[in-house]
Amino acid sequence: MAIAGEKNKYRAIVKQQLGDAELFESINSTQISPPYRIKGTMSRNAFGDTTANIIDGIDSLLESGDIIKTDRATTVAKTRISDRDVIIKRYNNQGFLNSLKYTLAGSRARRVWRETHLLQQLNIATPTALGYFDVLHKGRVIRSYLINEFCPEPILHYLLLDKLIPINDWPKIVGLVRELLCDLHGKGVTHGDIKHSNIIYERGKLILIDLDSLIIHRTTKSLQRHIKKDLSAFERKINSDPEEYIKRKKIELNISD
Ligand SMILES: Nc1ncnc2c1ncn2[C@@H]1O[C@H](COP(=O)(O)OP(=O)(O)O)[C@@H](O)[C@H]1O
Ligand SMILES: [Mg+2]
Repeated sequence: MAIAGEKNKYRAIVKQQLGDAELFESINSTQISPPYRIKGTMSRNAFGDTTANIIDGIDSLLESGDIIKTDRATTVAKTRISDRDVIIKRYNNQGFLNSLKYTLAGSRARRVWRETHLLQQLNIATPTALGYFDVLHKGRVIRSYLINEFCPEPILHYLLLDKLIPINDWPKIVGLVRELLCDLHGKGVTHGDIKHSNIIYERGKLILIDLDSLIIHRTTKSLQRHIKKDLSAFERKINSDPEEYIKRKKIELNISD
């Protein structure tokens, strides 16, 4: 694909799509969670409840859900909103400088929200993003949230750890990841964090998640450099001995048979 030309076409489609007021509600309000300003976009059809209720109650939703992962940077939980299983990713407050950076450059949630729609336009499977919003205090983004559709199928990590496939089938999965990367890279995009926990396996197909380090490249030079990084992660992590992976993870996670 010619990097700049085609990409601009898709960006324009996404811009138009996200600007469609019938499909998406654009939020810029100090009324929902005072004293904070809330800025974001939410899908209109995804939830029965009102956007304001979801936004105001997002932390209790997150904390009462199944917390999948939490660290300084993000907290990820599976929960239900209006009878729909969703994944909420909270980009935590990481201090003044980070907050300033995301205020000036745009938040991670906002970027991933747009990139998700773009990937879908490019026909790369990734869970549908249902909404995102930033929480601003005194003009600065202090935390953000991304709400994604939940995919019930396992990540590659569990394919191996829970023995969901015979170990001899692993080379087929490796082949699928190779094809996925080839497709992605051919479209001028790199993922930046290729590993077992960022790819979902759904009946012979792969779904790419965790788009935080995704780049849609504008120049061939930067594309080539980042393709190398993706391929090196692929070789080191995915295209490695699956028995070794299971053994190492069991030690890391303190699991015995
Ligand atoms: N849409 C989704 N459907 C199902 N599981 C998901 C989804 N998004 C994330 N997860 C699960 O949550 C984990 C952490 O999410 P991820 O976006 O990778 O966060 P992090 O940046 O902390 O790695 C993933 O490894 C996966 O197990
Ligand atoms: Mg991840």
